[in-house]
This record gives sequence, C-alpha cells and structure tokens, in this order.
Amino acid sequence: MKWWQKTIAYELYPKSFMDTRSQGTGTIEGIIEKLDYLASLGIGAVWITPMYRSPMVDNGYDIADYTSVDPSYGTIDDMKRLIEEAKKRNIRIVLDLVFNHSSDKHPWFLESKKSKDNPKADWYIWRDAKEDGSAPTNWRGIFGGSAWTWCEERQQYYLHTFASQQPDLNWAEPAVRRALYDAANFWVNLGVGGFRIDAITYVRKPDVFEDGTPDGDDGMISVHDMTANQPGILDYLHEFKKEVSEGHDIFTVAEANGVSADELKYWVGENGAFDMLFEFSHTNLEFKGIETWCRPEPWEISDLKRALRNSQEATKDNGWYPAFFENHDRPRCVNHYFPENADHKAAAKAMGMLMMSLRGTPFLYQGQELGMENVAWPSIDCYNDISSYGQYEFALSEGFSKEEALACVHAFSRDSARTPMQWDDSENAGFTEGKPWLPVNENYRTLNVKAESIDPDSVLSWFRKLAEIRNEHPVLMDGSWNELMADDPDLIAYERKNDNETVTVIINLSEKEREYDPSLTEGKEILLVSGDAFKHGNLHGLQCVMVTDK
Ligand code: NOJ
Repeated sequence: MKWWQKTIAYELYPKSFMDTRSQGTGTIEGIIEKLDYLASLGIGAVWITPMYRSPMVDNGYDIADYTSVDPSYGTIDDMKRLIEEAKKRNIRIVLDLVFNHSSDKHPWFLESKKSKDNPKADWYIWRDAKEDGSAPTNWRGIFGGSAWTWCEERQQYYLHTFASQQPDLNWAEPAVRRALYDAANFWVNLGVGGFRIDAITYVRKPDVFEDGTPDGDDGMISVHDMTANQPGILDYLHEFKKEVSEGHDIFTVAEANGVSADELKYWVGENGAFDMLFEFSHTNLEFKGIETWCRPEPWEISDLKRALRNSQEATKDNGWYPAFFENHDRPRCVNHYFPENADHKAAAKAMGMLMMSLRGTPFLYQGQELGMENVAWPSIDCYNDISSYGQYEFALSEGFSKEEALACVHAFSRDSARTPMQWDDSENAGFTEGKPWLPVNENYRTLNVKAESIDPDSVLSWFRKLAEIRNEHPVLMDGSWNELMADDPDLIAYERKNDNETVTVIINLSEKEREYDPSLTEGKEILLVSGDAFKHGNLHGLQCVMVTDK
C-alpha cells in the first residue's frame, strides 16, 4: 500500500486556522505553531486550501500568481519551513491546484483582455456577443448570474464557471497547460506531498457553445449541465499526470462530480489520471441535480447508505476512496445529516466512526474533530461567502421570501465551515488577538481544543482514539469492506476483513433505539463504543460500536 492509503488526511482552511499577527486571518506561522496539535490527531497529510497570492474574492480560489504565497499568510520561505517542519512530524503538506480558472487580476488575464491578438489572447475563453449584444449563451454561473461577463477593453465576453472575477483558462491552448504544469512542478520541487485539484471536470469546454433549456425563472441553465465532463477531458488529465505526478511520491485527489462508474477506471487508479476523486453523491443527498439551496428534497438514511455503498463498490477495483463528510464548501455534518435538536455530540462521534472505518483515506475537516456546528446569522449581510449571496438572490428570484431565502443560507452556507478554529475559551477562541475576519461560533466557550483535550468523553478524544485504533489495526486500511444489514433503514453496518482480522462496525444513524443480531458483537473485543451503556444486540439513538475478532 502507498503511504497516502494508510494515512489520515486533514483539510485545513488557512484563513481561519491560526493567526499569529493579530490581523484577524490565519498565517503560515500559525499552522507551524499548531503542527504538534495536528500530529496529535494521528494524521499524515494536511491539505491546505489555496494560500497563493489572491484578491480573495473567493477566499483564495481566485489566484493571481500560482507560485507565490499571499502576503497575508506569509512568504515563500514560511511555506518552505512549513513543509520541512511538517515532514519532521511525518506530515506531508498537500496543496490545492485551482487550474480551471485564475483571478481576473492574474497578469495572464490582464494581458489576455487587452486585445484579440496579444500573445495571451487565447489563454481564456472569449466569445462575441449575440447580435442583440447579450451574452453568447444563457449559461448561469455556479455562484449565480450569467457565466459571461462583458469586457469593454476587448469588446468581447469571457466565460467564468464561477464568479466573474474567476475567468476560465483555455486548456485547449497548449501554452496554458504548460504554464499550469510548470506551476504545479514548482511545488513538487519544494517537497509537497500531493495536490487536491479544484473543479477539474470543467477544464474541457464543449466544441459548440449553445443555449440550453432554462432550468429556472431567470431564463438560464446551470453552466455545469452544459460544460462538465466533456468528451476529450481525459486527454488533458492524463497529460497532467505525465507532466506532474508521475514518478513522484505524491498523491492527487481531484474534485470531480458526476464521473460514471464505467468511466472511473480512466479517472483513478493505475491507469487513471488521479489517485482519488472527491465525488459528492453522499453529501448532496437533498439535491437531485445541481446544488440549488432553496430546493432541497427529503432524503432517508437508506439514500446515504446507497451512496456510500456505490462508492465503496466502485473503488473496490478502481483507485482509492477519499472518505469525507465535511469540507470548506459544505455545512457542518452534525447539522447536515441530523435534526437540529438531535444530540450533536453523539452524531459527531457516529459520523467520525463511519468516516474513519470506511475503506479509503479519511479526510477530516478542520473543526470536525471538535464537533463544530453551523452558524445562523440574522441577516445575509453578516455573511462573507460569495456563493451564499448568489444562492440567496436566486431564491428571491424564484419567489421565496427573504426569511425563506435566509433559512436556506443557514442550512447550506459555506461560511458555517469557515468560522475560526476554536482553540480555547478566551476571546475569539484563541484564534486571533485582532478582529476575526468571520465571527467565531458562539459555542466556542465549551467546544474548543483546550476543553476537549482534557475531557475523555469529548469528540476530540473520540477522534484521537479512532486514529489510534486505525493505526493499530491495519485491517482498517487494507481490509475489504463488506456490508451487513444492507436493507436496514437506520443502521449502517459492515465488516472490514483481511487474512488476520475482522473488524465489525455498527452505527445507528437514527435517533431511535434499534436492535441487531447480538452475535455480531458478542464474544468479541470492543474497540470503541459511544454512549453511556451498551448491551449487545441493542443500540440507542446515534450510538455506534466497533469490535474485533482478534
Ligand atoms: C471548488 C472549491 O472547493 C470552492 O471553494 C471554490 O469556490 C470553487 N471550486 C471555485 O474554485
């Protein structure tokens, strides 16, 4: 097995992790300061979301220089020190490659927009207006509004899958791909342990750009439906592999939605372009098509089970699964998967056991190890996230009231995952001595690293135990995944099995008390069980248990 298949990864949102300069936003120095904390979680890789030079319209996903560090975070020397200091603790630093688009302040774009015949004229996706002067197609950007913005200087529209400040790069232009590979290799040469690759399914554009049938009252259709996963995309991705990842001891995990099971072998694994794919079927249970916050549909635990089963089965022979329930774009899992009045601590533990015992590499998200929760701020103006504004406006345009639109923001805003890390119960949760860029969640006084570190029953202690168990029981890394009680509506249960050991996991995802066949756990060693009391054959609401036959 490769090192990254055996490890636990941690996703770190640097703007909210640790500020050492009283500026209200995190710093690289702050990450270095907290490396011992990260090591105490038993992790071996830290994926840091973009910290390159950026105007921060989308918090770093709008990059103005791919081989620099934003001064708010520090310098390239700080970055080198971080990579070295992390290595001393057996942690590899993993960076985010945002190659579908750059910032509109990137020198490449500034040049490209000047004229139709400058040396970088074709580095972005430019099109003439329709005869009436309107946008070339009726595509809606993922953050809302048209996916096209008019450029006065060049007298053409440019395409942006996300915000207008994030123009899409033209991968059909070989010089663009070369420049991107060179940027990635700059970081490989500095010793990073791998890459998470952003929004990769959009890099190949359709041959013909045409209007689609509107999916909303705004007369537009999501750009995703018109441009994602175009034929020919794999040629680019395999080229990326050859030019960047091949021959290096690094891993790649691509953000890629909607790759079908038949195609998976070309995307991941030995003959695929990447090592792992983040796909979202288990996090988007309430969205049947594209994520439209105001139109969530009811879902059942059996839907979650089906999604997980599909990805466990699909990655049995193809590639490797990155297990996650939270990231910087999703609500906190205790709010997302459970009712508001559910026991969130029990829920955090149940989801933790699930994530850490599926077959694959767990990706723990900053604060999930504390059981951090969503925020619900009183007005849209309190929010920072660009997509929260887009989704709010879209809901209003669909006839929702302001209150209803705000309720959707409360449920799905990306800011809930981005509030500052909660280190202790001092002002601003110990994150900054300045004014935090985003308010700290009010629950920080009880829910923080300091308090949870000394509480053996805390969510943090639970995650540390899970990491220890995983490291002591290699079956959780290399064992097969065999589902049990597939038809049960509440319990998710499976065995992890290799030649030496079988670990059995049973998790009650419902709030109801549930029975199961006691022989599944009786007579076996209990590795971990949540809740006050445990009786073989019975799990109270949200209780979970893990046993071994060894
Ligand atoms: C996906 C990233 O995870 C998200 O945070 C970002 O806004 C978009 N891609 C655009 O880069």
